[in-house]
Order: sequence, then C-alpha cells, then structure tokens
Amino acid sequence: MKSYSIALIPGDGIGPDVTDAAWQVLSTVARHSGFTLTGTPLPWSCAFYKETGTMMPADGIETLRRFDAILLGAVGWPAEVPDSTSLHGLLLPIRKAFVQYANLRPHRLLPGVQGPLKAGAFDILCIRENTEGEYSGAGGRVHHGTVDEVAVETSIFTRTGVERILRFGFEQARQRRGKLASVTKSNAQKYSMVFWDEITRKLAAEYPDVEVTNYHIDAMAARMVMAPESLDVVVASNLFGDILTDLGAAIQGGLGFAASANVNPDRSAPSMFEPVHGSAPDIAHLGIANPIASIWSGAMMLDHLGEREAGRRVMDALERTTSRGIGTVPGKDRTETITAAVVAALD
Ligand code: IPM
Ligand code: MN
Repeated sequence: MKSYSIALIPGDGIGPDVTDAAWQVLSTVARHSGFTLTGTPLPWSCAFYKETGTMMPADGIETLRRFDAILLGAVGWPAEVPDSTSLHGLLLPIRKAFVQYANLRPHRLLPGVQGPLKAGAFDILCIRENTEGEYSGAGGRVHHGTVDEVAVETSIFTRTGVERILRFGFEQARQRRGKLASVTKSNAQKYSMVFWDEITRKLAAEYPDVEVTNYHIDAMAARMVMAPESLDVVVASNLFGDILTDLGAAIQGGLGFAASANVNPDRSAPSMFEPVHGSAPDIAHLGIANPIASIWSGAMMLDHLGEREAGRRVMDALERTTSRGIGTVPGKDRTETITAAVVAALD
C-alpha cells in the first residue's frame, strides 16, 4: 500500500482548527482510496516562539525535508509576535528553502456560494511567483530614528526565476483552456517588468498553442472584477500575485474559500499546502473558522502526491457540501459541522 508522510504545521489562530478539519477529510479519503497518510504534527508557531525564541528549531528546514509534503494552517499572532518576525521565521523561509517557486491559487465559485459579483461562472488559476521579486528581502535601513532615515527594499528578478514561473504558467495554460495572462507594470517599472515581458515574449514562441495577453496589474485588478470569466491562467510576481489572490478570494466568496499550493515543480524538496486566509485572531477559538480553504488545499496536496482520484473525490465532497448550503455563508456553520458534512459526503 502506498504511504505518504505529511508534516502538519497547524500554526496560529484558526490554523489548528482548519488543519484538523482538513486532516479528518484527508485521512478518510485515504482510507477509502487504499493509501495511507501519516501525519506528524509540529508545534511551530508564535506560542513556540514565546517559549523558545524561534519560530522553528534551527534544524527545522532539515526536519521538514524528510516529508513528502507539508500541510500548514496559518502563521501569525501580531498581538504577541510582530508579523515581520513570525512570517520571516516560519512561512517565508520554507517557500524559499524548498524552492516552492509556484504558488497556485484557484479562484472559482463553489456551487451554492454567492460571490459579490453579478458575473456568472469563472475559473481562474493564479500562479504567483513565490521565491523572489518584491519578497527577496534585499534591503536595509540607515540613520535609524533620525529625520535622515532611509529604508531601501529592492525587488530582485532573475532570469532563472522569471523564466521558470512563466514556463510553469504556459504548461498549466496548455492543460487548461489555453489562455495565459501575464501581469506586470512595465509601463512604469522599466527594468524588472520590461525584463518579465521580454521573457514572456520569448517563451510564447515555444507555446504557439497558448494565447498570451499582457496586462498591467492595475488593469488586471479591474478585469478580475468586471470580466473574471475572460481569464484562465494568470501569472504574476510575488507581491502582485499576493494582492491579486486576495482579490481572487473576494470574488469567490471570501478568504474562507481560497486554497493554495506552494509547489516545488522539480520535486527536489517537499511542497507546502495552506489556505490563503491566515490566522484570523479575531475568530480564533470560536469554532467558526471555515475549513473549506484548508480542505481544498489538502485536495491540491493529494493531486501533487499523484493521488488524483482521491483529490477529485475530496473536491466532489466539498462541492456536494456547499451545494446543500453548508459552509457557504461566513460564520453560519461551525467548523465541525462543515467538516462532518464533507466527511459524510465522501461515503
Ligand atoms: C499569503 C500571505 C503571506 C504572503 C503573508 C502572511 C506573508 O499574505 O500567503 O498570501 O504575503 O505571502
Ligand atoms: Mn496574501
């Protein structure tokens, strides 16, 4: 029997609730599908930081490397630990260390979910560059606390980094509806974004079957609201992709529905699966977090592990659940009610 070992990092806030929910669903589908999932919970979080002074142990990355995949809940508890400390101590280093350069974020309405738009059906796959660009972490501050203080934060775009994320986008478009939207701001940013456009043009010649359109980020933001059905695969830099995917979450009914996969396409290290919503301290411990984004991320994990049939069964169960109106309205159903409904729908 096939068996996969999964690192579970529930993290902070609602992270543990939604990770537990996803794990119940994943364990059930594994049992029905004839493979085993072994989960190893790791307590790395802001609470861990308060105890130990670090978000994860010094050998945390080496520990994670041994797993087939990572399922993460959420990182951040800003009342106790500044976000710049927690996220640079746990989430962002994993994306970089494991070269999870493709962050996949699907945006579509699950049946029964009422989005804010009048638009009908849309099915967008945002692919966010996940290791460099505006999140490179290159910069510094001088003249601290004086009127002359200067803060510099430099975006870094490498040929390797830009080419691989765009190539990934072209490949995905080829497997979907054949349309690729490349997002830049090359009318204003004349080095990095012009570079990105040039590489898009070069690769387009290798993918004559893919229809490529270049958008500026501002126009793309408007398009995602006005004509989301016109989009298929959308590729963007790290920060642009971050912003667009919260917009994507909004049009699909809210952050409770936004799933994501931080993928290392070369499989040289584990990939990590996490809902987009974050730790939501305001509703932590109330038992009302929507587990759908986490469960959907779990389905993406199964796909990545090669268990496509099981991933499809999880998505079917999610859709059967939302089409009955369960989990579709924020705060209406309890986490455990939604989870139980999805588990039952798997049978
Ligand atoms: C996301 C989050 C993170 C990001 C934050 C928490 C650092 O917003 O995954 O979208 O910007 O990548
Ligand atoms: Mn974000």
